[in-house]
Amino acid sequence: MRKQIAAANWKMNLNLQQAIELTNQLVNSDIHLNEEHQVLLAVPFPYLLTVKEMTDNVLGMSVCAQNMASTKNGAFTGEVSGEMLRGMNIEFVIIGHSERREYFHENNDILASKVKLALEYGIKPVFCCGEPLDIRESNEQNSFVEIQLKESLFHLTDNQMKNFIIAYEPIWAIGTGKTATSDQAQEMHAHIRAVIANKYGKEIAETVSILYGGSVKATNAKDIFSKPDVDGGLVGGASLVADEFINIIKSLQ
Ligand code: 13P
Repeated sequence: MRKQIAAANWKMNLNLQQAIELTNQLVNSDIHLNEEHQVLLAVPFPYLLTVKEMTDNVLGMSVCAQNMASTKNGAFTGEVSGEMLRGMNIEFVIIGHSERREYFHENNDILASKVKLALEYGIKPVFCCGEPLDIRESNEQNSFVEIQLKESLFHLTDNQMKNFIIAYEPIWAIGTGKTATSDQAQEMHAHIRAVIANKYGKEIAETVSILYGGSVKATNAKDIFSKPDVDGGLVGGASLVADEFINIIKSLQ
């Protein structure tokens, strides 16, 4: 069975003290994760080791980087490499978040290199895809997302695609309070799974966890996660509030 995952994306928020406090609240909460559940905390680079140490003994809870460089090493001031993350035993990295695509001009080709490098270092990508509002309004979201997947993931081997994590985040739903309906999410997640199945076969596609992201809250998580092809969520704003995120974790199937 594929994992059901609640992933927190803190983005560029919280000072160190707040980060420690939030982590403490999560670690000391009454959540009990079983083998099918995974909680990821995608924290800013400077907090990775601190939060990792605090969560290392919590079964099913892992830290995740929010980004990594597309090249191995060299004169790239400010970048963080896969090798550096691997050296800190970071097991997950978000790749292709729409904010990286928009503000840092990361295109499908760059993201293809990042995904490949991450896997070479044994770091599991949480690959983000999703369409902007105008594409949704013209009903072209399926082909838009299909191109993102094809151009950034289809160089991967069968083995690399097994147990892969994809996050569908419609850009119009990120930070807007405007959530896709659970039916809209299911429709796109089924489409993503079909695209993967076409290339890698149904068996591998069934192992891929597909998370929904975009204004997930404690009040809508249960409904969204109840859909058969939705395997959890990638949560921004609501993951900064302990009670909210704890309730989102409890909404996992
Ligand atoms: P919000 O949950 O704040 O809409 O952010 C979603 C997101 O971008 C998670 O990566």
